[in-house]
Amino acid sequence: LDNGLARTPPMGFNNWNTTQCTATFNESMIKSIAEEFVSKGLKDAGYQYVNIDDCWAKTSRNAQGDLDPDPARFPNGIKALADYVHSKGLKFGIYTSAGTHTCNKAGFPGGLDHEQQDANRFASWGVDYLKYDNCNNQGVDAQTRYKKMRDALAATGRPFVYSITEWGQNQPWLWAQPVGNLWRTTGDISDSYTKMVSIFTKNLPLAQYAKPGAWNDPDMLEVGNGGMTPAEYRSHFSLWSIMAAPLLIGSDLRKVSAENYATLVNKDVIAVDQDPLGVQGKQISAAGNKYVISKPLSNGDYAVALFNNNSSAQTISTTAAAIGIGSASSYTLKDLWSKSTRSTTGTISVSVPAHETVVYRVAKGVRTAPSAGTHQVSDLSW
Ligand code: DGJ
Repeated sequence: LDNGLARTPPMGFNNWNTTQCTATFNESMIKSIAEEFVSKGLKDAGYQYVNIDDCWAKTSRNAQGDLDPDPARFPNGIKALADYVHSKGLKFGIYTSAGTHTCNKAGFPGGLDHEQQDANRFASWGVDYLKYDNCNNQGVDAQTRYKKMRDALAATGRPFVYSITEWGQNQPWLWAQPVGNLWRTTGDISDSYTKMVSIFTKNLPLAQYAKPGAWNDPDMLEVGNGGMTPAEYRSHFSLWSIMAAPLLIGSDLRKVSAENYATLVNKDVIAVDQDPLGVQGKQISAAGNKYVISKPLSNGDYAVALFNNNSSAQTISTTAAAIGIGSASSYTLKDLWSKSTRSTTGTISVSVPAHETVVYRVAKGVRTAPSAGTHQVSDLSW
């Protein structure tokens, strides 16, 4: 959607994957997350949106037909919460469904046939991002429903990142580029390695449809929720980044281990996701469940992810020519997880542990890292 927003994939937090509708989802939790963003370096790493998901509302509209927040969860209302998030230099996102009700069985009202009224309400609260779900849609055509809310948001005059959450049911990659800033390509993720990989394999072939302002969304991150190993979470984060996916943290940051936290703030991997060229990485090969994915970057470098979807270590190999970087007499490979650097005349080959992903930033010529500890691999000189 050409609204000037999400020129790189949105980065932030959404509570759903960790809380669902439990009582832990409330104002104090969301405020803590905003505080963590600032105090623990997430804001500096690029995370910006603090978003709330289903179950924030009352089960009935008020006398004016407006949505109100559940006073038990949000005793000071949504505007006060959005103001608090803004006071931290962050942005605030909300959720509703393109249906009569949201997905939760408690029966929270949805936006169908209330698009302008609800968009106005969100704008009056200072909301910056809307996730628009698909439950209880009454069989109304998806494009009609999602365009109607796009137009209602635009009519408020307030900029909104607009997240189309119809789970890939109507092939949104074929029509949603001018409708939303991101569109889900699959059903819901869960905190399991098998599920994460199955979503990855569905999102990977859709590379041609992603561009600045319009991204494939393979769903929010599970990193830190406990159902995968640290290596599997590094793969999850690497694969989402090479696919230029939105990076919406889905774990309670107050409880995430140091190792998984380090995954979420790996600035070199984030720079691959956020590269301004805005190209989703493409599969180069996948024989034997050994995936090679290549993504061109704005300074002429390439990122390549070597993902081992096997239960034992495997050597994964490709070449500079195969990943598309073009010819040179030598190349420098920087491993974005270990931070080690080496040179090659063209072969890219490494032993990758089970379920792990090696991500290289590949540059033409011989580069040496500066000695300063603050070095960023995305700098033109390493
Ligand atoms: C379905 C969506 O795909 C999830 O991300 C979440 O928003 C739930 N609905 C909430 O009910």
